[in-house]
Amino acid sequence: MKLFLDTAEAAEIAALAASGLVDGVTTNPSLVHKAGRNFLEVVKEIAGLVPGPVSAEVVATDYEGMMAEARVLRGLAPNVCIKLPLTLDGLRATKALTAEGAMVNVTLCFSAAQALLAAKAGATFVSPFVGRHDDVGFNGMALIEDIRLIYDNYDFATQILVASVRHPVHVLEAAKIGADVATMPPAVLRQLASHPLTDRGLAAFLADWAKTGQSIR
Ligand code: E4P
Repeated sequence: MKLFLDTAEAAEIAALAASGLVDGVTTNPSLVHKAGRNFLEVVKEIAGLVPGPVSAEVVATDYEGMMAEARVLRGLAPNVCIKLPLTLDGLRATKALTAEGAMVNVTLCFSAAQALLAAKAGATFVSPFVGRHDDVGFNGMALIEDIRLIYDNYDFATQILVASVRHPVHVLEAAKIGADVATMPPAVLRQLASHPLTDRGLAAFLADWAKTGQSIR
């Protein structure tokens, strides 16, 4: 399972990328606004920090506009993945861009029917938003199960990129279902690595080691 960071904060990405655990990055217009950076500059910088796909979202809502913006974004770096909304124009642009060899992430997916269309359009990734589903009283993970089943039924190559992840359990559930990718805020990746018993055990080992008076160097 691939782990992506869902942020436009370049410093956070650089810090966590050093762990070797970050396979890619997703951004969206709200995250770019939060980072307070120039969109094209920050995408280019992030694309240099991770080897894998960096999703950059178009803001045009019509096919021609999406294609024009995609051309600009693709020119930033070879690992830029064009993020398109799950609309009919977005699906049309998905088909055209993938035919040109571009990576495409179809975002704002809230139903299995939408995910089926994204796969038929040839999307590299589809992004179902689990957290926003949970927010309105629907089990977001049930959507991931349905998409996994449908994609496996037809051997669709589109990767399920679990988005709107809010906590480590979302990542675990996604992994159990067999999702291809989970994208998460940096804090969630840190939470995945941490456990109070690890901290307590390490503190005890270090305290006992200090009592030995020894050094490994
Ligand atoms: C996906 O690519 C989106 O950027 C993101 O996961 C949305 O998450 P949110 O619902 O926490 O805004």
